[in-house]
Amino acid sequence: MERTLILVKPDGVKRNLVGDVVSRIEKKGYTIAALKMMNADRSLLVRHYAEHEGKPFFEPLVEFMLSGPIVAIVAEGNRVIEGFRKLAGATDPTTAEPGTIRGDLARDQGTKVVQNIVHGSDSVESADREISIFFPEL
Ligand code: RTP
Ligand code: MG
Repeated sequence: MERTLILVKPDGVKRNLVGDVVSRIEKKGYTIAALKMMNADRSLLVRHYAEHEGKPFFEPLVEFMLSGPIVAIVAEGNRVIEGFRKLAGATDPTTAEPGTIRGDLARDQGTKVVQNIVHGSDSVESADREISIFFPEL
């Protein structure tokens, strides 16, 4: 069964949107295979966001992800990687379609990095890599 790594980012946790995100995953029909709240540390985030190292938003992104607790989720189901990315909507919350998590629940806050409630893996390879970072026990 395909699996993906989903993160509720610090903005989502602070705004009490964990339940809304989990509910959308479940109502779509995917299974929550693992879930934990945690405070990520820098080394874990640098590994997770390795593809963005050197980009102008990298440091603000890591700082943002360190700004509060996050919730890490493994969701399971046929085509869940693609399916959750559709549920999440476009990276930019201003243009994310209404009906999506980012389109419904986020907006531009004028911050150095886009704050957009959730992360979702973008390929099978990323999902495997990211799940092993956040859930080494699985
Ligand atoms: P994610 O990885 O969080 O699911 O989001 P994504 O695939 O839609 O976006 P990605 O390009 O992987 O970027 C990762 C996160 O970095 C922040 N970002 N800010 N120009 C910017 O200010 C910018 N670009 C990216 C966002 O928080 C994005 O989700
Ligand atoms: Mg991404």
